[in-house]
Amino acid sequence: MHSPLIVTIDGPAGVGKSTVAKRLARALSIPYLDTGAMFRAIARRLGQGAWERGEAELASVLAGMVFSLSGIGEDSVLTLDGAPIGDEVRTEQVGMWASNIATLPVVRASLKTAQQALGERFSLVAEGRDMGTVVFPAAHRKFFLDATPDERARRRFRQLTDMGQPADLDELRDQIARRDHQDRNRAEAPLRPAPDAVIVDTTSLTIDEAFAALVRGVRA
Ligand code: DC
Repeated sequence: MHSPLIVTIDGPAGVGKSTVAKRLARALSIPYLDTGAMFRAIARRLGQGAWERGEAELASVLAGMVFSLSGIGEDSVLTLDGAPIGDEVRTEQVGMWASNIATLPVVRASLKTAQQALGERFSLVAEGRDMGTVVFPAAHRKFFLDATPDERARRRFRQLTDMGQPADLDELRDQIARRDHQDRNRAEAPLRPAPDAVIVDTTSLTIDEAFAALVRGVRA
């Protein structure tokens, strides 16, 4: 049996990882794993203040949560305890809660185990913050996408308004800056490129151009 193909895509909030990750997974005919959605689903389930609960209580709640993955590319469906994780986790509020709980070693350890288990069963395009550095250090290809904070805020604004959600550009810029700061400076698995990642600055790239850069990187 062939070992699964793992491609990792890491980068900060609002950089456009999901769009190109789904397209790349479709081109490769493999599932797309949105690990941010895993942190978001847990954060939403636990609610505000979750990170103030004791480690033992969190560990026992996390131990009972089961993630599963099916489908290919943009049709990939990630479920938590049998329920598909949908747009309800895509608010900036839940994003901030996710970033908060993502600083907790007990949460990271539990999700790392779940992510690696999926990577043993499936070939994946895995998107997140620590895919190339911590979760899949032996991935076949690693990418780190970046873009200026202003451009990322604009992209997030378009994404939220396309989903029919209210959005304020200045507020988004602040929220993204706060989340970035926390994601880059946490002690455990901080956001940073793996030494062997291909860094793609997407600030002035269209989605097609960013996708083409990834396809070139995979073929290289
Ligand atoms: O990619 P996203 O915006 O959906 O992620 C939400 C938060 O989850 C992000 O701010 C930090 C956390 N996260 C993480 O720490 N590690 C990952 N692999 C994915 C997300």
